[in-house]
Amino acid sequence: MPRQLFVTTALPYANGNFHIGHIMEYIQADIWVRHQRMQGNAVDFVCADDAHGAPIMIAAEKAGKTPQQFVADIAAGRKPYLDGFDVAFDNWHSTDAPENHALAQQIYRDLKSAGLITTRVVEQFFDPQKNMFLPDRFIKGECPKCGTRDQYGDNCENCGAVYAPTDLRNPCSALSGATPVLKSSEHFFFQLSDPRCVEFLQHWTQDGRLQPEVANKVKEWFSPRQNADGSTSEGLGDWDISRDAPYFGIEIPDAPGKYFYVWLDAPIGYLASLKNLLARRGEDYDAYMANPALEQYHFIGKDIVTFHTLFWPAMLKFSGRKTPDNVFVHGFLTVNNGEKMSKSRGTGLDPLKYLGLGMNPEWLRYYLAAKLNGRNEDIDFNAEDFMLRVNSDLVGKFVNIASRAVKFLPAGKLVACDADGSLQQEAARLLATVQGCYESRDYARALREVMGFADTVNTRFDAAAPWKLVKEGKTDQAAVACAACIEMFKVLTACLKPVLPALAAQAETFLRSPALDWSNAGTPLGDGHQVGAYSHLMQRVEMAQLESLFEAPLPEVTPPTLPGGEAIAPTITIDDFAKIDLRIARIENCEAVDGSTKLLRLTLDVGEGRMRNVFSGIASAYAPQDLIGKLTVMVANLAPRKMKFGISEGMVLAASDADEKARPGIHVLEPSTGAQPGMRVR
Ligand code: MSP
Ligand code: ZN
Repeated sequence: MPRQLFVTTALPYANGNFHIGHIMEYIQADIWVRHQRMQGNAVDFVCADDAHGAPIMIAAEKAGKTPQQFVADIAAGRKPYLDGFDVAFDNWHSTDAPENHALAQQIYRDLKSAGLITTRVVEQFFDPQKNMFLPDRFIKGECPKCGTRDQYGDNCENCGAVYAPTDLRNPCSALSGATPVLKSSEHFFFQLSDPRCVEFLQHWTQDGRLQPEVANKVKEWFSPRQNADGSTSEGLGDWDISRDAPYFGIEIPDAPGKYFYVWLDAPIGYLASLKNLLARRGEDYDAYMANPALEQYHFIGKDIVTFHTLFWPAMLKFSGRKTPDNVFVHGFLTVNNGEKMSKSRGTGLDPLKYLGLGMNPEWLRYYLAAKLNGRNEDIDFNAEDFMLRVNSDLVGKFVNIASRAVKFLPAGKLVACDADGSLQQEAARLLATVQGCYESRDYARALREVMGFADTVNTRFDAAAPWKLVKEGKTDQAAVACAACIEMFKVLTACLKPVLPALAAQAETFLRSPALDWSNAGTPLGDGHQVGAYSHLMQRVEMAQLESLFEAPLPEVTPPTLPGGEAIAPTITIDDFAKIDLRIARIENCEAVDGSTKLLRLTLDVGEGRMRNVFSGIASAYAPQDLIGKLTVMVANLAPRKMKFGISEGMVLAASDADEKARPGIHVLEPSTGAQPGMRVR
């Protein structure tokens, strides 16, 4: 019976583009999904943007956009990454979509009916300068548990502790820098401390489904802790699920001015994305979810385990819904032994730059797969290691088999090559092992098995030495040896297919094999099978490509905006700047211009032994006599310009704000004492 699987990756915050850590998660899940499909299972693989929360609201405000527009712009940039790395989500949705609003409100109502929602007045940090309650992520301080500095107000990136922002030591507002003050407001809580929840979660998290290292970590949360109201409980603390307006999120039913905390509606976004997918297919969501055989899996990073192993299963359970079958936790990706990439600042390996350099996405898929073993250890992308692995394994071992063997197949036809059936047995063993490895997400081991077998095939090829056999006129023997290699190449192709879908497709074309899956991979192509023309299947990684990839990025092209001011102009080079000849000028004379309220006529000495005539639009700010005798800076090599009142032979420099109302005035530049007319400004 084919299985019915619902698979997700974590929903990325819609406040930035993907970084390589996101791509790693998607590749890990995509490999698993492709493996499942090769097994004939039905999989729905979805994701969405995590749109809500104060940080996104604040970022949108800074960018001068509505949160909706801000999030839509981020979403519009997702496709090149996903297509580029062959990540085959069936749907990409948003937690701000109507399905999610409806589902979140319904789940809340159901939890309320179950008697698991309560309200309490809590004191919370309030930014007295910004006049709003401070979102957790905008309060920084020291982790109350492990003491790590510079931690956000919701959980610690170092020890994973989840806490209230008021638990932080030495808090400060990241919005204004102000020391936050405590202010009370009514909050809604999901009563995780209820014995029903505790009992359910203790079972769900400790029944052996979770990775052992994850289960152990989660166990800590069942030990005595403090509730939000100051009381202590033996087990879990209640979870604060509301935030006060202004907030970008989903309104809590019957509670004006109150919104769901983003982490309440974020995982519900998994269901919303699925619901949206099913609707587009004309399928019924409720019927789909009611299928008792449905399996639900979430791929996530180790930083968001508590949300997925406590809050999320409990929300589903006590709202009367299907709970996840499992949560698969991976570690963090670092680049070239770099620090853990910050969630927001992800650095090191820019996925789009990688693609833009024409680097093969399957190199990265292979390399990451070779490091992923199904545990939640961190893994490092190391440039040299990457090049070695890809070149020696994929090109040197796998591709090599086909390119060598095809040469000695007469007319590209396979011959009988497995008289005793031993090859087929070997293939069956390999296929079984590799499938098991994929199933348990130990891709590293799957690929070790595959490359070990590729070594064997290459060794046999060398031992048979078909090039010699052909010289000796034993073309039949050469053909048998090569047919065996091609048959095994096909098996290896199937084994690599979840990781390397594009390479496998090319190989299938060359082999003229059916689309390979786990059920047909062990069936020999057979005596008389005609293979296609061989064309090289994969290039080697070049050092130069890696050098370009990690070359210091070009200077920022998008102009950063200044708070309340004008954007910085696009970047120029030092050579661009050198083109502008700036000189110290003495204002020998200055007079009003008849017929103009804006202009003053300046007579300037720039040490050339002659005077320059310059018109300047500074009449609103200076009376002519104020300027006479002063030094200033002028652009001395500006092309002369004919104006209504005469020719202007340059320009003096003055400062002003684009927004005249905000910061009025025009301020002519003056050099420090000692500068002389004619000196160059550089
Ligand atoms: N929006 C939340 C998840 C909500 S799920 C209902 C979030 N977003 S995130 O963009 O910060 O992270 C998305 C996923 O990427 C998480 O699983 C996170 O662990 C993962 N990664 C973020 N940085 C990573 C690395 N450097 N390496 C590997 N995965 C990383 O958390
Ligand atoms: Zn900590």
